[in-house]
Amino acid sequence: MITVSEATKSGVRALSRKLLKLLEDKSSQIYQDNVAKFGIPKEYVKKAFSEKTLLEAAASAKTTIYLALENRCEILGFAQTIQREADTTELDRIVVFPEYARKGIGTQLLAKVVKDEKRKGTKAIIVNAGKGETHARRFYEKNSFAAVKEVTMEAPWGNKITLVTYQLQLNSD
Ligand SMILES: CC(C)(COP(=O)(O)OP(=O)(O)OC[C@H]1O[C@@H](n2cnc3c(N)ncnc32)[C@H](O)[C@@H]1OP(=O)(O)O)[C@@H](O)C(=O)NCCC(=O)NCCS
Repeated sequence: MITVSEATKSGVRALSRKLLKLLEDKSSQIYQDNVAKFGIPKEYVKKAFSEKTLLEAAASAKTTIYLALENRCEILGFAQTIQREADTTELDRIVVFPEYARKGIGTQLLAKVVKDEKRKGTKAIIVNAGKGETHARRFYEKNSFAAVKEVTMEAPWGNKITLVTYQLQLNSD
């Protein structure tokens, strides 16, 4: 059975261990998506996925980390949200580990995010995708997000990247 819920502290620690282990493998999707693609330095990503960073994020009132778990044990994917304004929340990350892709788990993670944000009275969920991230963009479009903005910016690690901002308007039904 697959369940999606807010990560416990031990869940966040397990997630960090899994991400850091996957990053050690240069052929892994996590390495390709996070390090190779935008030329992000590995040290930067390691810090972003460290236990300390993720635990601090999870403890912050504005951030929520969700885990998709199989039988309450194996981590299949995760999502991280950050409240940006009173009525706007950013989907900062959504990742389904490649061996579990295309089984509806990303959609299940997103459904939980949407349900929680609706309950909080959030009006819109935004998410940024790299312009060339076709898979992620299809996923957002399939899930009713609309592209609202495109910006080319200099990333903190120096490269120029073009991001497309998607928005999902929430109705309070
Ligand atoms: C994007 C991502 C989260 C989707 O998760 P998922 O569990 O595979 O998605 P779902 O099975 O719920 O897919 C829902 C729909 O999205 C679209 N979609 C998902 N993955 C796709 C792909 N690789 N290519 C084209 N369309 C895709 C399809 O329309 C799909 O419906 P279908 O399978 O009936 O055709 C996952 O592919 C992923 O983790 N990618 C790497 C990380 C990433 O890019 N994250 C987003 C930026 S942080």
